[in-house]
Amino acid sequence: MTDHRDEIEALLHEDRTFAPSPAFVAQANVDASIYDAAAADPVAYWAEQAERLTWGVPFTSTLEWNRPVATWFGDGQLNAAVNCVDRHVAVGNGDKVAYYFVGEPDGDTRTITYADLAREVAKAANALTELGVSAGDRVAIYMPMIPEAVVAMLACARIGAPHSVVFGGFSADALASRILDADCRVVITADGGYRRGAASGLKVNVDAALEQCPLVTSVLVVRRTGQEVSFTAGRDHWWHDLVDRQSSTHAAQLFPAEHPLYVMYTSGTTAKPKGILHTTGGYLTHVATTHSMVFDLKPATDVVWTAADIGWVTGHSYIVYGPLCNGATSVLYEGVPDAGGRDRWWRIVEEYGVTILYTAPTTIRTLMKWGEEHPERHDLSSLRLLGSVGEPINPEAWMWYRRVIGGDRCPIVDTWWQTETGGIMASPLPGVTATKPGAAMRALPGISIDVVDDDGRSVGNGEGGFLVVREPWPGMTRGIWGDPARFVETYFSQLPGVYFAGDGAKRDDDGDLWVLGRIDDVMNVSGHRLSTAEVEHALVAHPAVAEAAVVGASDATTGQAIVAFVTLRLDAVVDDDLVESLRLHVGQMIGPIAKPRQVLITPELPKTRSGKIMRRLLRDVAEQRTLGDTTTLVDPAVVAMIDELMRSAPADD
Ligand code: WTA
Repeated sequence: MTDHRDEIEALLHEDRTFAPSPAFVAQANVDASIYDAAAADPVAYWAEQAERLTWGVPFTSTLEWNRPVATWFGDGQLNAAVNCVDRHVAVGNGDKVAYYFVGEPDGDTRTITYADLAREVAKAANALTELGVSAGDRVAIYMPMIPEAVVAMLACARIGAPHSVVFGGFSADALASRILDADCRVVITADGGYRRGAASGLKVNVDAALEQCPLVTSVLVVRRTGQEVSFTAGRDHWWHDLVDRQSSTHAAQLFPAEHPLYVMYTSGTTAKPKGILHTTGGYLTHVATTHSMVFDLKPATDVVWTAADIGWVTGHSYIVYGPLCNGATSVLYEGVPDAGGRDRWWRIVEEYGVTILYTAPTTIRTLMKWGEEHPERHDLSSLRLLGSVGEPINPEAWMWYRRVIGGDRCPIVDTWWQTETGGIMASPLPGVTATKPGAAMRALPGISIDVVDDDGRSVGNGEGGFLVVREPWPGMTRGIWGDPARFVETYFSQLPGVYFAGDGAKRDDDGDLWVLGRIDDVMNVSGHRLSTAEVEHALVAHPAVAEAAVVGASDATTGQAIVAFVTLRLDAVVDDDLVESLRLHVGQMIGPIAKPRQVLITPELPKTRSGKIMRRLLRDVAEQRTLGDTTTLVDPAVVAMIDELMRSAPADD
């Protein structure tokens, strides 16, 4: 189910097409012929794109496809960090800026060139080696959005140690379960970071997490805020002690193209997050190619700002690996959009001359809510392209983004992809493809997206169905860490032979693609994936709760918001604070992003005769819609009663 579906549905039949921008047509990195060329021989197309990388040992085999696991460039060898950093320095671009770092506190900025990055990554790689990390070992990274987070990722990549970056907003428990699942023995963190003006604690969460992770031998801690932290002798090391004293050179080793680069945990339909595995050669090919084509990147002059967190896949692919492979200059901003004023973002755009801005609809809606006066106060004329990612963008937000931020001159690329796909899969190409407000338009060259019905047959124009990918692509996940069976079951079992993404989509009358959002029990809250099962699991772990059912309800700002329905145990202590303590409890178990917007305590949950909770009806209740079909329920009165309760419940924030 998705947010804004009605608005999108209404627009599907309206003609609001923006032709390719004339400013781009003349100078775009690619032209329309690329679609046919790629379709004629996708494997050859990807082999050609792989030449964007520097291979230590060139590949001779492009693709081996043992469904569902692909091997791309199998006999090639390369080093990811060399591709991201060293090779740019080697050709004389050492002085080029890799990152303009903008800390949340005003004036806290750093400029990091490719040469700086090369030195820092070499030192950090040497430090990790001193800590005993070697190729294949997993390293957890739990950091704020600071340059050391990028350095840590690249240092791991350089020595072939897959990193597992855990979003800094996750709780100690969530961190612990991820450390344990990937069996990380080293954790890189910071004392804390700046969030909404205050110094948040990260090391304190690491300490709590490590009580459950006895096998972790070393913790490397960046001093960011200067807050007090406790240190465990022998285990904990300050970054400035250990890293700074290392040699700033490091001889990089080559790794096979399929060497694991990282694991990124994401929510599926069960309570346990999945460790999505990405490998080196195919992933880097995919992100370098898409970053160049979709954003029409001109590395010499562009300043790209992917306003996402490094703790999510968007940060991995389009703050770190894509831009660095392409030798681009990026902005890295630590804080929230209104730190130091609601025009903070626009100040950054103006000050650094940002040319390409890429963010999530939820942020666009928030910025929109704050009013046009904030962007209007700044010169945004440097912008030439805008991107959207993470959830369906409602046409209203799209139009605002185009008009107010893009001055009606910047194309908008609405990019559909997932943690599992590694990089962008569907999007308009600037200067080539027309755009429509809310549509991802079409699959990228070399990608075979389809919309199919229950039997896996392609639907016609004007029809909806499931979004699938028919053929392998270089950035596709190579599996779920430690659980190959779940990989097959999750992505390759619902529909025969194709990758099933979990999203619903529609082709409009022109055959253009509209992604409508998840059709499974995955919620999308502010562009963050959370499973209903994960939140239910947290709720039933509370001593007062007997049963819980969680749904994602439409929300004007966050896309979806979490609404929970709980029944209490007979011995539960019920007081006025119970609802709030249930919300806090979920926040503590998973992280603040998982706190339900609303918790409704009810005597019963609506169930079918086979005992299944009818979430569909609860979603109707949560959104205060007319209830759908209740005939399969054991007792339709239950849902009517919950509906009544909901109508009289005070709305939470
Ligand atoms: C949703 C984020 C509509 C979708 C890169 C997908 C989108 C999930 C779009 C993946 C888009 C992402 N239009 N929906 N342009 N982009 N989604 O793994 O439901 O955090 O399955 O990756 O976000 O979220 P993930």
